[in-house]
Amino acid sequence: MNKDMNKVMNKELLVKVCLRVNNFLKNNTDGHDVAHIYRVYQNAVYIADNIENCDKDVIILSALLHDVDDYKLFHTKNNENARSILISCEVEKDKIEEICNIINSVSFSKNKKPATIEGQIVQDADRLDAIGAIGIGRTFAYGGCHKRTLQDSIEHFFKKLLRLKSLMNTDVAKDLAEERHLFLLKFLEEWNLENNSLFNQEI
Ligand code: NI
Repeated sequence: MNKDMNKVMNKELLVKVCLRVNNFLKNNTDGHDVAHIYRVYQNAVYIADNIENCDKDVIILSALLHDVDDYKLFHTKNNENARSILISCEVEKDKIEEICNIINSVSFSKNKKPATIEGQIVQDADRLDAIGAIGIGRTFAYGGCHKRTLQDSIEHFFKKLLRLKSLMNTDVAKDLAEERHLFLLKFLEEWNLENNSLFNQEI
């Protein structure tokens, strides 16, 4: 793998990793599906293109593999799934460690800022997919899948989604988050309006 920003990652490796990730997430219905992975990958590449001196290959691989050992989805230890994919794709040992460290530092529940710019970019890329229209869709998909009420999903906006804008690490992600955050507020306003108008109706 190269460290040169302008060289694109080896296509063969990219395809191999994507196919293996697809095997793990193809049946997912709670918002952690392959489309989520693809959007996070795209977000990460977009952010990385605007930042000098970052290892794009590490960013791309971490973005693609960030959910294959998620505790909500799998009961693996020590990034077992990510490691098996990377080993089968013949990625170097030190890179595998770097990627696993990033994956372990991006989760919202861990509540920490990744130590490296590569980790910070992947965390921002994942968080961007949790807000805006996509974030709303994913929140209700997750809620439905895990037998949560609609009100539980609305509460998730306050526990997590509305906090993400101010937790972005990079300026690029902060800019992208702005509009998506406004859309969350607009949605909540409309949600309240429609609920209240129902209750105020004379029957
Ligand atoms: Ni994710």
